[in-house]
Amino acid sequence: MKAGPKAAVSDQPLPFKPRSEVESERFLAFADKFLRVPKGTNSRGKLHLRDWQVEIAQDVLDSGARTVGLMLPRGSGKTTLNAAIGLYAFFCWGDGANVVVFAVDERQAGLAFSAARRMVELSPELAERCQVFKERLYIPATDSSFAVYPASPAAAEGLDYVLAIVDEAGVVNRDLFEVVQLAQGKRAKSVLVAIGTPGPNVEDQVLLSLREYALAHPDDRSIRWREFSAVGFEDHPVDCEHCWSLANPALDDFLHRDALVALLPPKTREATFRRARLCQFATDVDGAFLPPGVWDSLANGEPVPDGLDVVVALDGSFSDDTTALLVGTVSTEPHFDKIKVWERPPGDESWRVPVAEVEDEIRKACQRWNVVEIVADPFRWTRTLQVLESERLPILEFPHSPSRLTAATGDLYSAALNGKMSHSGDSTLAAHVGAAVIVEDSRGIRLAKQSRSRKARKIDLAACLVMAHSRATWRATRNTRKKARSFR
Ligand SMILES: Nc1ncnc2c1ncn2[C@@H]1O[C@H](COP(=O)(O)OP(=O)(O)OP(=O)(O)O)[C@@H](O)[C@H]1O
Ligand SMILES: [Mg+2]
Repeated sequence: MKAGPKAAVSDQPLPFKPRSEVESERFLAFADKFLRVPKGTNSRGKLHLRDWQVEIAQDVLDSGARTVGLMLPRGSGKTTLNAAIGLYAFFCWGDGANVVVFAVDERQAGLAFSAARRMVELSPELAERCQVFKERLYIPATDSSFAVYPASPAAAEGLDYVLAIVDEAGVVNRDLFEVVQLAQGKRAKSVLVAIGTPGPNVEDQVLLSLREYALAHPDDRSIRWREFSAVGFEDHPVDCEHCWSLANPALDDFLHRDALVALLPPKTREATFRRARLCQFATDVDGAFLPPGVWDSLANGEPVPDGLDVVVALDGSFSDDTTALLVGTVSTEPHFDKIKVWERPPGDESWRVPVAEVEDEIRKACQRWNVVEIVADPFRWTRTLQVLESERLPILEFPHSPSRLTAATGDLYSAALNGKMSHSGDSTLAAHVGAAVIVEDSRGIRLAKQSRSRKARKIDLAACLVMAHSRATWRATRNTRKKARSFR
């Protein structure tokens, strides 16, 4: 069947007469009769729903709750099960059975839709009765639709659905979720399902808010919560088999153990693995840039020897009340040291970063070492960069674009983990690196402070490190010395 509307579809009712009055049992009969695995393990085979999937279907179809929150790790068949339940409602709930699925972005929406479309294609009885459009299935006989949207609150305005599924509720935008929630109430029966794996932002996340609410209000029957997680076992090692099976009902079934083994830290960061594969979200360790002990193991107690080729990085902003200068040797395995950090003395509201002093310190560094580059984010340091450049110092702007920061942060991370760098052991440097957390969004990763609060621990030297490491290693792999000297 090709994508695109068919001129004529059958208006005959589905040959489907389940005996049970219980929705989840009817769904099982529907799946058994019409649905096949759309891809991956057992592709094209019968979609045999596991007991734990049946329990989820009961939450969605039998519980009477208006909102169902489901937390499962990556790869546990969330998108596939959504598509299956969605198709059941779409084909079997009579007139105007509108099913909507929201995904975080175009790509996820495409995955969700192709799972459903593929299931329809694999069933002649279903395929015969519905039209297939680019992002929508439609049954003319009942005026029912099954549509998948990328998350945008505008797309969700004015919805009228019997079943709404928000896939990836761990990362979905809260505005969108609220619009979908508020569209409820137009029908005697409608269900909103929020399903997902915990996302990186544990402070503000639709999935975790639902979880918190449901656990705090066990008597509220309008909401139903179910999770598969190793929450409570955060002290177990990351490769603990007990935790793996606790959190992953599909393990050794359609979720392959060797794939999980292949992702174990250090290939992914421990916090990421715990979140995505075990549904754990201990906030204290979550997102820490480096695993415990890694930074200390890279200290050799030495300063950067005078006269070497180095890069100098400058970071900090006037509003953060801190500014930092860092030096690193030009090398494929660079050595770093703090030059200086300026920080507001506690309680001194009138304090400003002494810009002239910062500039002087940079000039001094240029006398002490052979500074081949001075890097800074031009957004914050335009004036200083202009002044120093007019003195023919080798200024290099390091614009903090998402793609650039993602690459530089990733490189620094693997260098630290593989011992391909070293540092003096300076305590402020250690504190700034220790305070940095990694934030991850659709545009990539970058370092950030633990919170926006002014009191949050400073990370300016860590931000310098990302830039300095990127430039120092880049310089070391290219013969750019002549060119750099011509600046001076
Ligand atoms: N009984 C089953 N239920 C669900 N999926 C199954 C089943 N049997 C096999 N599969 C296959 O397992 C895979 C599950 O992947 P799916 O994308 O649905 O998981 P997910 O939890 O949405 O993953 P992600 O966390 O990456 O979004 C699919 O390829 C699916 O076809
Ligand atoms: Mg999915």
